Amino acid sequence: MDALNRPRCDTVPAWAQLQAHFDRSGAALDLRKAFAADPQRFATFSQDAPHVFADLSKNRIDATTQALLFDLARQTGVEVLRDAMFAGERINTTEDRAVMHFLLRKSAPAQGESVPLAIKNDLQEVHQTLDAMLAYAEQVRADAAITDVVNIGIGGSDLGPLMATLALDAFATPTKRMHFVSNVDGHELAALLPKLQVGSTLFLVASKTFTTQETMTNARSAKAWFEAQGGTDIARHFAALTTNVAAANAFGIATTFGFWDWVGGRYSMWSAIGLPIAIAIGADNFRQFLVGAEAMDEHFRTAPLEQNLPMRLGLLDLWYRNFHHFTSRSIAPYHSALRRLPAYLQQLDMESNGKQVDMQGQKLPFGTSCVLWGEAGTNGQHAYFQMLHQGTDVVPVEFIAVKKARHSLPGHHHTLLANVVAQAQALMVGKVDTGGHRHFPGNRPSTFLLLEDLTPASFGALIALQEHRVFVSGALWGINSFDQWGVELGKVLAKDIEPRLESGDVAGLDGSTAGLLRRLR
Ligand code: F6P
Repeated sequence: MDALNRPRCDTVPAWAQLQAHFDRSGAALDLRKAFAADPQRFATFSQDAPHVFADLSKNRIDATTQALLFDLARQTGVEVLRDAMFAGERINTTEDRAVMHFLLRKSAPAQGESVPLAIKNDLQEVHQTLDAMLAYAEQVRADAAITDVVNIGIGGSDLGPLMATLALDAFATPTKRMHFVSNVDGHELAALLPKLQVGSTLFLVASKTFTTQETMTNARSAKAWFEAQGGTDIARHFAALTTNVAAANAFGIATTFGFWDWVGGRYSMWSAIGLPIAIAIGADNFRQFLVGAEAMDEHFRTAPLEQNLPMRLGLLDLWYRNFHHFTSRSIAPYHSALRRLPAYLQQLDMESNGKQVDMQGQKLPFGTSCVLWGEAGTNGQHAYFQMLHQGTDVVPVEFIAVKKARHSLPGHHHTLLANVVAQAQALMVGKVDTGGHRHFPGNRPSTFLLLEDLTPASFGALIALQEHRVFVSGALWGINSFDQWGVELGKVLAKDIEPRLESGDVAGLDGSTAGLLRRLR
C-alpha cells in the first residue's frame, strides 16, 4: 500500500461493520453490565506501555469493537503511514516536508548499528545541535550572574516548554527563575520587565519561523528595554531558538540554536525549543526526557496493533467521535505539576487534526478532532464535574494519575489518588435515585493513564504517547496532521485591520467589523 494514497476510513469494510456493530449493540453497551459479565475485563482492556499503564476498561468498547477497530487500522494502512514517517518520507504533503520529531529523541547509533540513509545525516546534525544546546544550558546553569530566564515564544514555542518546565519542577534548579511570555498583549511583558535586571536576565527568543507577530513584537520590546536600561551585551543576554538563523542574526542575535523544517512547531520541545527545559532541569535530566520519549517511539513503531497503546487510544478517539458522535474530551491530570497539559494537548490535537479535508483536499463526510479541555484535579471536581456526571452530553474523560508523590506532606497524596479513582468509578457506576436531582446516569466513559512517578523519562513517554495517538486518529481520518493552514486567515486579516485602527478607514468591511473598529477608535 502507498503511504500517501491509502484508503480513507469511511471507504473500507470495517467502517460499515463498525456502524452495524454500533447500531446492533455498541451504542447500548452498558459498562456496569460489561464488568458484571466479564471478570477479565480490566485485564483485557488495559495496556502496559513504556512508563505508562493504561486502563481502557471503562470505555464503551467490547471485544467486537476492538477487533473491528484493529481491522479498520489495518485496512486503512495506519502502520504503513507510521513506517513511512519513521523512514523519513515526506508525509506532510501540503508543505512537502518529512515529519521527524521522533529523530530528536533517537539515541546516537551504537557502534556498527546501521541507520537508514534518509535519516543518517539528519540524526548526526540532531546530536551535534543537542550537544551544543545542552552544553549552553549547563553554562547558563553554572552562571550565577544569570538569575532570570525569559522565554519569548508562542504556540509550540511556548506551550511545550512552559508545560514541561512546570511538570518537571521537582527536578529544576532553584537558582533560576523561569518566565514565559507569549501573548502580544503588552500587559504580559510589561508586568514582567520591572521585576528583571538587565545584567542578570537571559532572553530566549523561540520561534521556528522567526516571523511570528507576537514573538517578534515581544522580542523587539525586550531588546528595546534591555538597551534602554544600558544593556549592551546582546550576545550574552539574548539567544534565539529557530530554524531561521539568518533572520535571528538580522535581528541582532548572534547566539543561536537551530532545528529543522521537519519538526512541526507543536512537536518541537524536544529540539532547541526545549532549551528553557534544559536550563531548568539540566542536561542529564533533559537526556532522560528524550530517552523516555524514545521508548514510547519504539513501542509505537514495533508493538503489534493489539498491544500498541497509541494505536488503541487513537482508535478509541475515532470510535467516540465518529460513531458515538461525542464532541469533546476532558483531560484531567491529577497532579498539579501537569496543570498546563490540557492547554498543550489542545494545540497538539486540535491544530493537528482540526481539519475538514483529506490529504487529497476532498471534503470529509465525518467529524475529526473533538474539543479538548480540562483542568488539574481535584480543582475540576469543584467546577465542571457536575456537568460530566449529570449533564446532558457525554464527555469521555482522560484521567492521568501519578502513583508516587514528590512531597512529604502527610495524607495529601492518598486523598488525591482516592479522588481520581472515585471520579472514574462514579462516572461509570452512577447512582439510582428516583428523585431526579440526585440521580446519576452513570455509564460515562473514561480512560485512566497511570505513571509510577513523574520523572523526565516518564513525562517524555507520556507526551510521545499523546503525539502518536494524534498521529493514529489523523491517519485513520486520512488528513494531513502536520500542517496548520487554518491559523493563516486571521493573521492576514489582522495585518489589514491594524492600519485601519489608526486611519479609521472601514471601506469594504462587513457591518460588524466596521462597527467594532469605530468603537475601538
Ligand atoms: O499559529 C500557528 C503556529 O504556526 C503554530 O503552529 C506554531 O507553534 C506557532 O504558530 C508559533 O510559530 P513560530 O514558532 O514559528 O513562532
